[in-house]
Amino acid sequence: MAPVAVAQNGTDHSNGYTKPQNGHATTIELPMKPNGSLDDYKYNDLTPCIGREFPTANLVDMMNAPNSNELIAELALTSMENLRLRGVVWFRKQDNLTNDLQKKLILKIGELSGRPKTSGLHVHPVLNSEGEVGEQRDPDQEISTISSKLFSKVYGRHPDSALSQKKQNADQWHSDIAFEPVPADFSSLRLTECPKTGGDTLWASGYELYDRISAPVQKFLEGLTCTFGRPDFIAAAQRGGFKLYEKPRGAAENIGGELQAIHPVVRTNPVTGWKSLYPVGQHCQFINGVTEEESNMFLSWFKRLLKDNHDLQVRFHWNDPNDIAIWDNRCTFVHDQMKRFADASGDDPQLALKLNFQNDLPSLSLSTREDTHVAY
Ligand SMILES: [Fe+2]
Repeated sequence: MAPVAVAQNGTDHSNGYTKPQNGHATTIELPMKPNGSLDDYKYNDLTPCIGREFPTANLVDMMNAPNSNELIAELALTSMENLRLRGVVWFRKQDNLTNDLQKKLILKIGELSGRPKTSGLHVHPVLNSEGEVGEQRDPDQEISTISSKLFSKVYGRHPDSALSQKKQNADQWHSDIAFEPVPADFSSLRLTECPKTGGDTLWASGYELYDRISAPVQKFLEGLTCTFGRPDFIAAAQRGGFKLYEKPRGAAENIGGELQAIHPVVRTNPVTGWKSLYPVGQHCQFINGVTEEESNMFLSWFKRLLKDNHDLQVRFHWNDPNDIAIWDNRCTFVHDQMKRFADASGDDPQLALKLNFQNDLPSLSLSTREDTHVAY
């Protein structure tokens, strides 16, 4: 197993944590402070705690503006007047945003929010495998193509399976690429074709999940780590006869075909200094150092907390091609219904391009959200 994470405060966690020999050095002072440069743009906050839509702003104009760095740095923080992080932002109809500009933008957000020079865009080990997995795939390995045709070809259930072929979507919540030692920080998803109806995407706030747990239990959870992994990806590759992408995937630590990593159960987002619950949904295998029953109990309880607390979720409808979402995986979970809807309808009109970039090893530090959190 690859070495993974260590707390920023120097605490060497047990249960599989291995302190990296050469920890990544951040390039800016963290946590970041808001600079207010986005305050004059029209926006809609879709819920009290997560999500902000900029209905008229143009990202390419922002990239070309004289204060471009300020605007893009503010996107990383996406703060509002009371410092409550929004976690996910959306921009509408970004028709002049090319693939290359989208790559440039997401890398710039990383650079301005402390991305180490050693980290870059992720290459998905399955969707961008080194074999032929789908004719719809974008040839750029740093762009993951999301399409129902591609997904059913890559992840489709084995026809000999005795299980029902019916689809259920309850288990789609996840934080992107948590199976990598250096998982995704920011992700961006741009729909190049929209479904005729449905296909919404949901996000949920990890800060809120953590904040709704009692203080004694929070403290207990902070001492735990979780093993993340995707053995089903490995099985899908074997079944489909294609080879996983085993070269470095956005960071030197993300290499090989094991697709497994250990991360803290509670992690601190260095951009804000706030804590978030991390092991929720897909990618989570087990909590380390506890019994199997206890691990199952915690993981299913985390998921239930997310599902039952609808007020920490936000649902976004894709209106037009080139609507784009940008979110921070260190404090949000995403549920992507788009491809599932297409399966149910038998239609396949939608196509999306997704970019993830890596930043640093997940860690737990001493700072808390309570210092800045304003109750609502
Ligand atoms: Fe994802």
